[in-house]
Amino acid sequence: MLEVDRDPACAAIPHPQHAFEVTLTVNGEEHRLPVDARTTLLDALRDRLHLTGTKKGCGLGQCGACTVIVDGRRVVSCLTLAVMNQGKRIETIEGLGNGSLHPVQQAFIDHDAFQCGYCTPGQIMSAIGLIQEGRTRSDDEIRENMSGNICRCGAYTNIVAAIKDAIARGLDPREAMTEAVEAIRQDAERGA
Ligand code: FES
Ligand code: FES
Repeated sequence: MLEVDRDPACAAIPHPQHAFEVTLTVNGEEHRLPVDARTTLLDALRDRLHLTGTKKGCGLGQCGACTVIVDGRRVVSCLTLAVMNQGKRIETIEGLGNGSLHPVQQAFIDHDAFQCGYCTPGQIMSAIGLIQEGRTRSDDEIRENMSGNICRCGAYTNIVAAIKDAIARGLDPREAMTEAVEAIRQDAERGA
């Protein structure tokens, strides 16, 4: 255990002494940072790495706004600690696209699949995970497997349409995301 500065995310806690240094691999880039042992992955992404595309809704695992993909699986980042994700491959909404929109992002626009947009990053990450899992054989299956992502605006019908359209376009989400992450990694290597 290292003695490090207090995690600002935990500044309001009287005795945040349980600091660890972790390496988080986010969108292909490694970030080494001290975190309090109680810091969630969501807070580390937003408050420490300033990746604010991942949204904080309930903070209780009930809304899905904070969904990211960890080692290929959908995860609500408010329910996992940063220290538990050392060495894992974390993908966030910022890792999508490479100078152009990811096909699922484009499909959400084309189908008007959001209103306020607050839930949208989580919906999109969850949709990509869902397509990767292949659990999209019917509207009911899509609805069931997207049910952890709440949209208070009620854009559900258009979200299902967007996911079906992304699939119809022959999207290989794994490939699309890998290309985007690889481009970010190469930019980082070039010091861009
Ligand atoms: S903020 Fe994580 S599920 Fe709501
Ligand atoms: S678009 Fe408003 S909560 Fe989803």
